[in-house]
Amino acid sequence: MLESMFVCGSPPVTSHLWLLILSCSLHGQPALSDLVFSTHPEDGVGVLGAPLTLYCAVYDSSSQEELSVRWERASGEPAALSPGPGRGIHQLANGSLFFPQLREGDLGRYVCSAGIGAKHIMTVVQVMEADLEGVFFSPQSQTVSEGRAVFLQCVSGDSSPPAHITWLKDNTLFTKGAQIQGQYGGGNQRKTSGTLHLSNVSMEDDGEYVCVTHNPLLTTSRESKAATLTVQGVPTRLQITQGPDNITVAVETEASMRCAVRGFPAPTVQWFKDSHLLVNNSGLSLQNKGQLLVFKNVSEDDEGSYHCEARNKRETVRSQTAFLLPAVMGWTFVQQPTNKAVRMGESVTLVCRPPYSRPPTTVSWFKNNRLLAPKTHFTVRPSGDLIFHSVYDTDSGVYFCRASNVHLHRFVTSRTARLTVLASPSVRLWPPVVTVPVGAQVVFQCQVWGQPLPSIVWSKQGRSIQTGGKIAVGYVQCNRGGAVRLLLSGRTQSCVFGVINQSVRNL
Ligand SMILES: *[C@@H]1O[C@H](CO)[C@@H](O)[C@H](O)[C@H]1NC(C)=O
Ligand SMILES: *[C@@H]1O[C@H](CO)[C@@H](O)[C@H](O)[C@H]1NC(C)=O
Ligand SMILES: *[C@@H]1O[C@H](CO)[C@@H](O)[C@H](O)[C@H]1NC(C)=O
Ligand SMILES: *[C@@H]1O[C@H](CO)[C@@H](O)[C@H](O)[C@H]1NC(C)=O
Ligand SMILES: *[C@@H]1O[C@H](CO)[C@@H](O)[C@H](O)[C@H]1NC(C)=O
Ligand SMILES: *[C@@H]1O[C@H](CO)[C@@H](O)[C@H](O)[C@H]1NC(C)=O
Repeated sequence: MLESMFVCGSPPVTSHLWLLILSCSLHGQPALSDLVFSTHPEDGVGVLGAPLTLYCAVYDSSSQEELSVRWERASGEPAALSPGPGRGIHQLANGSLFFPQLREGDLGRYVCSAGIGAKHIMTVVQVMEADLEGVFFSPQSQTVSEGRAVFLQCVSGDSSPPAHITWLKDNTLFTKGAQIQGQYGGGNQRKTSGTLHLSNVSMEDDGEYVCVTHNPLLTTSRESKAATLTVQGVPTRLQITQGPDNITVAVETEASMRCAVRGFPAPTVQWFKDSHLLVNNSGLSLQNKGQLLVFKNVSEDDEGSYHCEARNKRETVRSQTAFLLPAVMGWTFVQQPTNKAVRMGESVTLVCRPPYSRPPTTVSWFKNNRLLAPKTHFTVRPSGDLIFHSVYDTDSGVYFCRASNVHLHRFVTSRTARLTVLASPSVRLWPPVVTVPVGAQVVFQCQVWGQPLPSIVWSKQGRSIQTGGKIAVGYVQCNRGGAVRLLLSGRTQSCVFGVINQSVRNL
């Protein structure tokens, strides 16, 4: 007893104090009380083909050192433990037993033991295969009044390691309410019980509930039988809380219209197109008890006015009317712009008639590859045409139009057209009046401008002299009143030489 007191009173590791005292008080045997599991062995649950480790470490408190442990199959097990390189099962430096690849033959009971002198310690652990059995207890169907509490109960089948429980409502994960789970029963039960508690049931909670059990080691799960929760509402007036809205959608896409209803008894929802009851066909699908109308692949035939009606045995309510416009657009222009040449100050139209489109396309114009910024001297007509009320020479350039349908996220671009603004020929610099002695050299200068650039013809008294912008005419025999005629690009303008006369005439 003295010796025992001594051992118990000087624990080298404080964390083992309670274990030692317990051990002393239980057994009172000094030989046993000296050895403790510093890592307590636990049952192992593994997946066949995957690795598994069984932990076991023993501490000798009298010598204050770790003892090496020994692993064996428990007696009565079919196979003896034969660690070896063949299977790779081996003991790690810290005493753990390691299975690189768990086999069916490895399942069963194992003994971890250690001893020194007369002192001996041992324990038995079990190696089990991870498994999950079918749901043991499925939730039960119930009928509750709105505002009351409801409990749905579920118990998993046997599972190693313990199963985890989740809930589905109408086939989608349900996360509302209080979800509680714990071990079912006591002792060696391998079942998990789960409770779904809704403290204040509303009409939206009405539906089918399924409890799903998952084994964390396995990828499998098991589902319970479905329980129907029927919520009895207080009779309330029917109300369409969200009616269908006008929509414009691209053809060959999916579209939907909503008709959200509220009220009790729960109504049925019907849809009408152009006042005719909508019949179920392959292109349509009614979801969420008719509250969602889905067009699987919108076509031009779906165009029309839609409304829904909600009805129960007490009343019928009708939604607003909504129009569905299928958006379409062709690829080819009805008319495209063409090259134009106009005189400055005149008006001109660059034509753009976009492809067939519903709703109509938006037309934008580009000049020299840049979006044409709005100005006061031109207008884009609803038809798409670009009208210049009075062109400036700066309006010259290369134009094209672009038609887009936003609902289709698509646009088409016309071919390009050149706009040339013509400017009438005009004289910028007139030949001056010169008085020179006979026999002297005289130079007349004349500068002209126009679009396109005019050519220059000099003539004296109707006779052509020479062409070019700046010429030397040679010696001039000048008579009073003699004139030089200037021919500009087919138009004759006269400037009188020898007499001061600056007038210009378009002949
Ligand atoms: C024993 O050693 C292995 C690897 O060396 C390690 O994974 C395991 O956690 C150790 N066990 C304990 C109980 O420390
Ligand atoms: C229950 O929910 C309804 C609405 O969903 C709310 O008006 C009511 O106050 C709630 N009752 C309690 C007791 O929480
Ligand atoms: C649909 O559009 C029409 C006119 O285009 C309008 O009178 C009606 O109010 C719209 N409906 C809805 C539900 O917005
Ligand atoms: C939609 O309908 C068109 C013909 O009307 C068809 O070519 C297309 O493949 C359909 N699209 C889908 C997603 O079914
Ligand atoms: C409508 O058709 C779908 C399948 O296309 C079917 O599941 C559904 O029961 C039908 N509904 C009615 C009211 O006929
Ligand atoms: C000057 O020009 C005007 C108008 O063209 C013309 O009527 C007039 O005869 C000219 N004068 C002379 C002196 O040539």
